[in-house]
Amino acid sequence: MAENKKTYYITTPIYYPSDKLHIGHAYTTVAADSMARYKRMRGYDVWFLTGADEHGQKIERKAKSVGKTPKEYVDEIVAGFKLLWEKLQISNDDFIRTTEERHKKVVQDIFQKMYDKGDIYKAEYEGWYCTPCETFWTEKQLEDKCCPDCGRPVELLKEESYFFRMSKYQDRLLEHIKNNPDFIQPPSRRNEMISFIESGLEDLCVSRTTFSWGIPVPFDEKHVIYVWIDALTNYISALGYGSGDEKFEKYWPADLHLVGKDIVRFHTIIWPAILMSVGLELPKKVFGHGWLLLAEGKMSKSKGNVVDPMELIDKYGVDAIRYYLIREIPTGADGYYSEEALVERINTDLANDFGNLVSRTTAMIDKFNGGLIPAPSAEEPIDRELREFAQKTVSNVENLMEEFELSNAVGEIWKLVNRTNKYIEETAPWALARDSSKRSRLETVLYYMVEALRFCTVMCTPFMPGLPPKVYMQLGIENETHVHTWESIEKWGALPSGVRINRGEPIFPRIDLKKLEIQEQQASEGAQGEKEKDDVDKKIENEITIDEFSRVDLRVAEVLKAEKVENADKLLKLEVDLGTEKKTVVAGIAEYYKPDEVVGKKVVIVANLKPAKIRGITSQGMILAASKGDKLGVITLDKDIPVGAKVK
Ligand code: MSP
Repeated sequence: MAENKKTYYITTPIYYPSDKLHIGHAYTTVAADSMARYKRMRGYDVWFLTGADEHGQKIERKAKSVGKTPKEYVDEIVAGFKLLWEKLQISNDDFIRTTEERHKKVVQDIFQKMYDKGDIYKAEYEGWYCTPCETFWTEKQLEDKCCPDCGRPVELLKEESYFFRMSKYQDRLLEHIKNNPDFIQPPSRRNEMISFIESGLEDLCVSRTTFSWGIPVPFDEKHVIYVWIDALTNYISALGYGSGDEKFEKYWPADLHLVGKDIVRFHTIIWPAILMSVGLELPKKVFGHGWLLLAEGKMSKSKGNVVDPMELIDKYGVDAIRYYLIREIPTGADGYYSEEALVERINTDLANDFGNLVSRTTAMIDKFNGGLIPAPSAEEPIDRELREFAQKTVSNVENLMEEFELSNAVGEIWKLVNRTNKYIEETAPWALARDSSKRSRLETVLYYMVEALRFCTVMCTPFMPGLPPKVYMQLGIENETHVHTWESIEKWGALPSGVRINRGEPIFPRIDLKKLEIQEQQASEGAQGEKEKDDVDKKIENEITIDEFSRVDLRVAEVLKAEKVENADKLLKLEVDLGTEKKTVVAGIAEYYKPDEVVGKKVVIVANLKPAKIRGITSQGMILAASKGDKLGVITLDKDIPVGAKVK
């Protein structure tokens, strides 16, 4: 009965809408989603929450810099979050925004309760503030006078603020962490937190007067509630805490707050202390996962190396991206992102191991059994070994999921994929098919292959929700929903016999990275061409100021070398001299100029254009040219002006 189902409440951090989300944020949400989907399959009544943390000075400043109100700004970015989660097939039950009334009310209510209890008091605050991180630091926490988290400069701020008497909860907190070994996971983070608390908890500044984009302190409107009380409260405001909503009764305390290692401290010290102050139960578990890094370190907007998950989904498909993220970050540790590693995973694990298993299995059923899934008969030792392996895999995956060991759980599924591929080699159904006396042996082997494949597919469901329907379709069991469930793999042999399969396209086509680059390039050159044609016949509009124009640094440059770019009909690679330096420029002029026709020409180049990679070549500028119809001419000078001269 539905009412008796065990509940499971899982959350992600609520992300800052200061910018678009990157692949690291996608990791947290995909990991939480996989867990939510798994628990649903295991019969839990799951509530899965994600959302946006929309207040604070950083967002206020960011909005101002682009001429928008904070609300306009966050509305736009949050729409992008929702689109991304939809594309990633995130199955969240709610999406909380801290600008919503339902949230504001709860935050003010909690603040008031803490104040009434004497846990919040007013005092003068002086501290080192990092605006991008929205964090105050003590002098001794700074590293080289900069923020220890992001390394950027901090400012000394002094103001009247409200403080939360967190020190009061130090002992209770420590006791809770020590008595509940599961509360902070993995254990390394738990130890870090214990030493942090043991070194002494200071009271926490919980209001600001230096900006206004936040929730006002209910009894002192010139203060806004500082981000962490505001943000953390989302986990209960979304359940309708205080409004009589049955969701709060039903789902609180949370079973799992999944967060990145960067914010474990806030979730295991500040949040529990707030809950203790308000008199609410603490979440059962906080899991601090590792980071997804690039070879050169963290992703950051300023370094321009942020990986956009939307682009990757469009290019490789959502299941492949989800698989890669879960597989690549070992539980609790950091993982490294590279597109090559992603393609490698797709080609090896998905196309080769899994995809081939599907196509071999369906091909053999087609060829050796008229397209029907056979019925098994006597089990031989080699079959038993596969069956036991499959059954053991199910229990291993179940145990690993309990420990939030997602990467290892997927690793176990892949061991079964490979074991099944090996079983095919060992039993050689093609040889059995040649001998009519081995008919029933062949049928058993074919059945075992498909049943093991079905086990793998069911177990993949939480991680790659798009995959199972494709496999079930090919196996002809798309309507047999009772064999898609987790329960159905708790016993071997649920797969029905006599079903007709439908062979189909490869489930995961192999990716040829070289070909893909060329296609992308051609698409972007094509788009560029179209745009140019459009522009020529357009009316002159979009006025700009002289200041705006002067941001474009146009210079005279001499072409020193020119050569054709391999596999690109339209491109020439030029080396140009700007007097003070030489630059490489890739220009789309190869259909109009032979390389030696441009060498020696003095041209005009946009010298401060952000470098871009074109066919693997970093192009460091753009030469000016005019075109209409099928004519194109490079802009040159009618007098001999020295290279490097500014063009105004
Ligand atoms: N708004 C706060 C969280 C408040 S929760 C009550 C915040 N937001 S954030 O936008 O900065 O996102 C933080 C979370 O995004 C991290 O805790 C982590 O889960 C995820 N990640 C951000 N960058 C990441 C990587 N490079 N790799 C993995 N996860 C990353 O902090």
